[in-house]
Amino acid sequence: MSNKKDLRIGLVGYGFMGRTHSNAYRRVPNFFPDLQYNPILKAVCARNEERVKAFAEQWGYESFETDWRKLVARDDIDAIDICTPNHMHAEIAIAAAEAGKMVLCEKPLARTVAEAQPMVDAVEKAGIANTVYYNYRRVPAVTLAKQLIDAGKLGKIFHYRANFLQDWTISPELPQGGEGTWRLDNDAAGSGVTGDLLAHCIDTAMWLNGGIKDVSAVTETFIKERVHSKTGEKQKVTIDDACLFHCHFDNGSLGLFEATRYARGHKALYTFEINGEHASIRWDLHDLSRLEYFDHRDESVERGWRSIHVTDGDQPYMDKWWVPGLSIGYEHSFVHQVADFLKALEEGKPCSPTFKEAQETQKVCEAVLESAKSRSWKDTGVEWK
Ligand SMILES: NC(=O)c1ccc[n+]([C@@H]2O[C@H](COP(=O)([O-])OP(=O)(O)OC[C@H]3O[C@@H](n4cnc5c(N)ncnc54)[C@H](O)[C@@H]3O)[C@@H](O)[C@H]2O)c1
Repeated sequence: MSNKKDLRIGLVGYGFMGRTHSNAYRRVPNFFPDLQYNPILKAVCARNEERVKAFAEQWGYESFETDWRKLVARDDIDAIDICTPNHMHAEIAIAAAEAGKMVLCEKPLARTVAEAQPMVDAVEKAGIANTVYYNYRRVPAVTLAKQLIDAGKLGKIFHYRANFLQDWTISPELPQGGEGTWRLDNDAAGSGVTGDLLAHCIDTAMWLNGGIKDVSAVTETFIKERVHSKTGEKQKVTIDDACLFHCHFDNGSLGLFEATRYARGHKALYTFEINGEHASIRWDLHDLSRLEYFDHRDESVERGWRSIHVTDGDQPYMDKWWVPGLSIGYEHSFVHQVADFLKALEEGKPCSPTFKEAQETQKVCEAVLESAKSRSWKDTGVEWK
């Protein structure tokens, strides 16, 4: 008989993230056997009955629902996991918190700061465990970057540079709105690349380098009109197709960020580089198990960029996986996030980023969009601890 406690999951949305999260819940008990909580795939919810039933069978969910309100009302569910487009996050999260369920939510927390605030209030009032899937923090090489910075290896930090480049919306024939292209519809997404791609870069940046104080941004919408899937009519495109911004961090360093869906040849090139007085680090999602590291304190004759293959048992998370030298991938960042959530639950601690912390990222996104619109510098109002 196992002494483990069941954590009964109700997942909403079976798209891309529905799959990464389902995979994470299934992998955790195998690779993190010491955790006290055991995730149970109790129910999955989406609107199309035939498809949600097939998903439930494929991933091993015990049951399914076609109305998320029914899922939230069920008393055999402990935690609601939100994998729907951005405009659905707030309503589901608030209802779940009011029903006393824990909430795990995809990023960005919401479309705007104003929409996110009642989500933060609801989880705090209910006193329930909550987290937002800014999963890149849990790529072992990125976690190692955090350890090196916190250990003071870089010294004073001068520069933080990040890019997130894609090329999938270059065709003017691509519609906006509806299934598959909700990211191009401002009503569903809240913004374009800022909330979708830069939100990741901002979360990682503030986690590694502290709060972002103020921003100056430029955005562009290259394709001005697209057919809307819902109306069949050509409508104005109101998302940002590309966004560049620079900023000051609270620690005095300068940040430079770029995200676009118009960088031909790049599918998901997320990179960052940090330059400090003693050392620099850089990371690239396309080679996610490596952390590049340059330390000026090395002996001058052998000084140079090291390529650290983050696969050894004493490096973050890697004792849970294979043998040194063997890499893990993108999906494991979600396994780590679920494992950390369960561990935090066990210890009665918050699992970062909480809704409150994700709200700080939301503030930067909003300041970026306001800055671009007003062609002026904007204070973010971020309070990063
Ligand atoms: N953490 C990451 O790296 C990452 C990556 C991709 C997407 N995301 C985020 O995850 C969320 C989902 O994105 P995705 O790529 O999985 O989208 P997707 O389009 O692949 O899937 C969305 C799912 O939501 C379902 N859905 C929509 N409205 C619904 C409703 N009213 N009731 C029930 N289900 C509903 C759809 O049927 C679909 O299954 C977004 O917030 C997105 O920003 C995060």
